[in-house]
Amino acid sequence: MFLLKNHLIYFIINKDNYFFILEVVGIMYKQFEERAEKIISQMTLKEKVGQLNQITITSFKNDFDSLKSFIREGNVGSIILASSATAGNDPQGHVNMEFYNELQKIAVEESRMKIPMIYGRDVIHGHRTVYPLPLASAAAFNDSLVEKCYHNIAEEAVSDGIRWTFSPMLDLCHDPRWGRMVEGPGEDPYVGARVAEACVKGFQGDDLTAKDSIVACAKHYLGYGASEGGRDYFRTEISDTTLYNTIVPAFRAAVKAGVGTVMSSFNDINGTPVTGSKKYLSDILRDKLKFEGFVVSDWAAVEQLARQGYAEDRADCTKKALEAGLDLDMCDKCYIENLEKLVLDGKVSESTVDLAVKRILCVKLAMGLFDRPYGEKVDYDRAEHLADAKALAAESMVLLKNNGVLPLKKDANIGLVGPFVTERRSLLGTWTLDGSADETPNFLEAMKSKLRGGKLFCRDLSGIFDNSSTINYKSDVVVLALGESYLTTGEAYSVSDISLSKDQLELVDKMHSMGKKTVGVIFSARPMALEGVADKLDAIVYAWHSGSETANAAADILFGDTVPSGKTAVTFPRKTGHIPLYYNITASGRPVDGYYGVNPQNNYVDSVATPMYPFGYGLSYTSFEYSAPKCDTTEIEYNDLLNGKSFTVSVDVANVGDYDGKETVQLYIRDKVASIMRPIRELKGYEKVLIEKGTTKTVSFSVGAESLGFYNENGDYVIEKGEFEIFVGANCLTENKITVRVK
Ligand code: BGC
Repeated sequence: MFLLKNHLIYFIINKDNYFFILEVVGIMYKQFEERAEKIISQMTLKEKVGQLNQITITSFKNDFDSLKSFIREGNVGSIILASSATAGNDPQGHVNMEFYNELQKIAVEESRMKIPMIYGRDVIHGHRTVYPLPLASAAAFNDSLVEKCYHNIAEEAVSDGIRWTFSPMLDLCHDPRWGRMVEGPGEDPYVGARVAEACVKGFQGDDLTAKDSIVACAKHYLGYGASEGGRDYFRTEISDTTLYNTIVPAFRAAVKAGVGTVMSSFNDINGTPVTGSKKYLSDILRDKLKFEGFVVSDWAAVEQLARQGYAEDRADCTKKALEAGLDLDMCDKCYIENLEKLVLDGKVSESTVDLAVKRILCVKLAMGLFDRPYGEKVDYDRAEHLADAKALAAESMVLLKNNGVLPLKKDANIGLVGPFVTERRSLLGTWTLDGSADETPNFLEAMKSKLRGGKLFCRDLSGIFDNSSTINYKSDVVVLALGESYLTTGEAYSVSDISLSKDQLELVDKMHSMGKKTVGVIFSARPMALEGVADKLDAIVYAWHSGSETANAAADILFGDTVPSGKTAVTFPRKTGHIPLYYNITASGRPVDGYYGVNPQNNYVDSVATPMYPFGYGLSYTSFEYSAPKCDTTEIEYNDLLNGKSFTVSVDVANVGDYDGKETVQLYIRDKVASIMRPIRELKGYEKVLIEKGTTKTVSFSVGAESLGFYNENGDYVIEKGEFEIFVGANCLTENKITVRVK
């Protein structure tokens, strides 16, 4: 592989064949190397080490004089704008831009090298305006809307002086018990890659020096989402083929989109902590993925190497992390306290330090930080941001069930019950540092604003237990506002049971026994186990923790002002005990046709093991009919494929219902026989299209080398001859397929 301006040319070698793919990639950081090297040649060793140090000002305990002299002496490369190690659920103050500009002034005017500091903050799925949690927004399957929203986030963040965000989180995950699953794209590598690209482009744009651009950070590299048992910060066992085919693709896409930084993860993989691993941080990230920006550790992940039994002491942690390829040390002071001495003692080479400094300076140069070091406000339209937040929230919400009770009539009498009727904070979701719960409409307000002649009867949980309550006899339909608190999700907030709480289960039972038409609206971050709940509800809208406009978007859907179009980007298991359950599994040998836990022989004896809702699933108020897929060929020459030829698969989708609606058309591939077992279905394309009622749209997908191969255990991309089944349909269970042979 080599670089030509901002093009990457990949050679893919297969036995005696090779082919190449020309790809346009984002910002190439290496073009700033010469300038960076010139700066480095004038730096003392101490100043170089300072560039590798990220601090939190809380460690100075309000001793601002010491903080200022520390910066003046060139000891700080970056400041994280967070006051605790688990900022996701801890309350954080807003960023005081004037104060940080004052500190920056010291760095650029009073320090000897005048190198600006880079300010980073966890601007994860919103800033003042909060968008759906990433797991929710993946369900929108609308990349351009996600990109637009992430650009909006950048505009708001830079206006507070934030030039770097620790997002997107790209940890693929099969275990919804893990509190952090909700921060990422879900279970599918292809979705992960598309989301990664959309978020990086949204945050960074085409020009990192633009005033409304913010540097992104692909995290947590690598494998953190595979933490055993959904426990946080826990160990992982990941084979190399799983790593390359499942976990790496989202990071590969982020790098390709030009992401400036990558965060190393806390976990170990097969006994090697990623933060101290040359294999993961250099051999794969740099040599295979061609990442050119810098790597930051996760919070105190360097000193953690000693606790993980991988390093003797803090000096050894420093040596192991730096030599593995970890450039910036987040908050544990290992580098600043040990690195200079390690070099002077001849234990670490100065050139290794120089390399890390160079990578950091290249990003600072690429983003124009030397020319524009201070935070400045940009003009943005808050109303537009809120409208986009509502649009993305609405497209993220999934109609899981509807026996005809939805949409509701605006002149109906509606009972509104449950713990999420007046809740605000949880609607914003975990990792909301700057969004305000007080400014977030609750479900009651949103529902009220929709009624035209109808009445709301609202009760808290206790009121409903009375059979003769007004809710029961005066309402035409009852809407239950159910869900989970944001404090059961996020960093260090995993759960061992993904069911609704006991009181909510009782509430569902009581409502069911009253025989009223009942709609469940579930405000949750993860897929919850709905066995025993779904059958008692007449309709279910999965509203997620969808940000500032959650309640308004959900009310729009309930009353039919928006036609639901979200599709699950994650499998919903029936019970916690069915975890892990994900769609892109390999075939089991007994029986051959089983898929997704449907085999009678590998079912659990105490429960039905099929998913409650499969991946890619979601209903609409209208109905879509798919034609059989068509392909412009039945076979393709292997060498043609390698040389860039593709074929086209298309399908006609008719809207045969009563509403205009959006449908996410999905293309899955199965490589029927390969040298390593390939999944029964793998998503390789999706397109969300608006289809007016009574009309038909043809949706086409181009299928080429990039969709038909896989990575072997060495991380090389391989395509093998043989039959490929190509499925096109409305979710991963579709049987609508054709077969193409690669010969
Ligand atoms: C989290 C990261 C976060 C960092 C900085 C860590 O504890 O794992 O996701 O970006 O803190 O707040």
